[in-house]
Amino acid sequence: FSNITNTNDWKIREELDRAGQNLRNDAAYALTLFNKIVEQNPASPRALYGKAQSLDVLAEQKRSNKFLEGAIDAYEQVLNISDITHALFKQVAERCINRLRFRGSYKRAIPIHKSLIIKFPDDINYQNELAVTYLTMNNFYEAKKVLYEILLKWPNDGFAMVNYGFILKRYDLDLKQAVKYLKKGIATRHPGVIDGRFYYHLGDALIRLGRSEEAMAVHIDGVKNKVFLSKYQRSLHNVDRLTGKPWWTKEDMPNAKFFNKLEQQWMTIRDEGISLLNTDGLFKSETEDLREVGDWKQFEIYARGVKNEKNCRRCPKTCQLIETFPDAIGCRRGQIKFSVVQPGTHVWPHCGPTNCRLRSHLGLKVPSGVFIRVANEIRSWKEGKFLIFDDSFEHEIWHNGTSTRLILIIDLWHPELTKQEKRTLSNV
Ligand code: LMR
Ligand code: MN
Repeated sequence: FSNITNTNDWKIREELDRAGQNLRNDAAYALTLFNKIVEQNPASPRALYGKAQSLDVLAEQKRSNKFLEGAIDAYEQVLNISDITHALFKQVAERCINRLRFRGSYKRAIPIHKSLIIKFPDDINYQNELAVTYLTMNNFYEAKKVLYEILLKWPNDGFAMVNYGFILKRYDLDLKQAVKYLKKGIATRHPGVIDGRFYYHLGDALIRLGRSEEAMAVHIDGVKNKVFLSKYQRSLHNVDRLTGKPWWTKEDMPNAKFFNKLEQQWMTIRDEGISLLNTDGLFKSETEDLREVGDWKQFEIYARGVKNEKNCRRCPKTCQLIETFPDAIGCRRGQIKFSVVQPGTHVWPHCGPTNCRLRSHLGLKVPSGVFIRVANEIRSWKEGKFLIFDDSFEHEIWHNGTSTRLILIIDLWHPELTKQEKRTLSNV
């Protein structure tokens, strides 16, 4: 422990070591001992560190946020002591950031990142980690500034390159530059660069630039590196054993009854959808940067297994029909919504986030000239009929017709998931 022990702590090191020996087996007792030492030595970094660690262990054992907050407070107190060794500062700051991220308190981690960078300006990891925290906060602007500085000093760092490229793609929509950084970054094979997000957005940028052969090579390399299930199925939140195929039929499903019932009632659903369309402002524009051109709007009824009460009241009959289908309304990895696409629209090829849902489309208003491609097969909708596909596979939409296309989208759990999985899978 010599390098985490400052001159004053050196005088009480035996007492500190003895208290620390209880951390594993009896954290509550360790806490009592460290509290006593803190009382006598309020400026002792190691005594406070011991207190923080005891609270940290207790937080994990009791799964208690109160203890975790206590631990974080104590870690921060350690960091505020000026007479602290470099080695201890590192240990404490890294753990404190780790716990703050776990807690979702990203903003509070920022000053700690910054003090690590000031103390250890040559350690690139501390700068990359600051960028990661900013990215997790969706603060692309600050993340980009940090990464830019890193690349000035370390132009060949793969991790900084892929993250910088990711921001250029997602935030600046600068596809060409994004490709450059993502490609070069992934090629370094540095730790952290073999990540589905970077592969996905590199492939996506290439597709949009019309470089589809290069995109295909990226997707195949992604499969080889196990970030994608297959070259077409590029969702990133997956349960590996599930059957994956682009198109499904009602008969493939345990709930054919439900689909048949909705098909029988399709005109009721259509009429509600159309009257919603006739009220301005109810449908919201797609915001995920998926369109090349055109107009694509949605009216949400369920999202991630939660009913949108207000919207449901605006289409009560549709909602009532849907409510008889637990695998749809309980699908925390999906949505239920009306979706309207206007003539002249092209939606870029894209993949949904997870292979744990299937997506069903009930055709409500289907003019000619509208198409959907899933993997390598193009189909169209039919009024009053369901199309069922797995939207974790690459799909693309065209509206080359002359009037509005309206469908009802119902996502449902993949039929091979267990009850337990449906209960416990995280929302995405
Ligand atoms: C999609 O799910 O990406 C599209 O199929 C939605 C739509 O309205 O066609
Ligand atoms: Mn889609």
